[in-house]
Amino acid sequence: MAQVIMEHQQLIPLLPRFNIKMGFGHKSVEQVCQQYGVNTCFFLEICNSYIYEDYTATKDLSLFSLETMVDYLKNTHHYYTAIAFPALEQNIAELISDSELSIEKKDLVFNFFNDYKRNFLEHIQKEEEIILPYILELEIQYRQEKADEYFIRKVKKYSINDFALEHDRLETSLTNLSKLIIQYLPPFENWVLCHRILMDLCRLVKDLTDHGNMEDKVLIPRVSELEHSLLQKNREA
Ligand SMILES: [Fe+2]
Ligand SMILES: [Fe+2]
Repeated sequence: MAQVIMEHQQLIPLLPRFNIKMGFGHKSVEQVCQQYGVNTCFFLEICNSYIYEDYTATKDLSLFSLETMVDYLKNTHHYYTAIAFPALEQNIAELISDSELSIEKKDLVFNFFNDYKRNFLEHIQKEEEIILPYILELEIQYRQEKADEYFIRKVKKYSINDFALEHDRLETSLTNLSKLIIQYLPPFENWVLCHRILMDLCRLVKDLTDHGNMEDKVLIPRVSELEHSLLQKNREA
């Protein structure tokens, strides 16, 4: 495990999402995963898709339980809201406040950032409070011999495909923030902080792209399939 992380240090932010702590000694990836109760195949699939842009999962991600995927997505949300985003916000506030920008330009950046932050938090809140609990319940109801009536009504009323239609991508607007700094604002005196922010933005955009792909390309089709099977099974029962 130590060798993998040394060679691919971009994986470091993934570790807390699996509650894995460093100090690996000579333990293998499998031994570390066992120690922390993590599904080794799932961990490797996530690492590979994180490192290699056009990686196609060898073990189809859809073979893992929805609960495993939901846990990972929740931990990723926590990383965004508790760690990555507050750090970015603090650095941007420092860069802009201490800069020579006009009041109008400062307001432009702050307004842009605050609008993005509001959308971002609403997006995550909706997934945490409505979508992910619904998916966990769907998996439980599917395992029952007969699903509860109220749940069948719920699936018929609002399916995951309705959510898919309104599910937007969080990385797009964030890229515009980098563009604003690189292309349109005058240069910043504190270029060290400015460059750090741009590198953090670049990493966060990549992370959000992976996250969105997992939701759109793996989770949603899988949930849709399960909804379909649940309705079918209960029609026959
Ligand atoms: Fe999400
Ligand atoms: Fe999302």
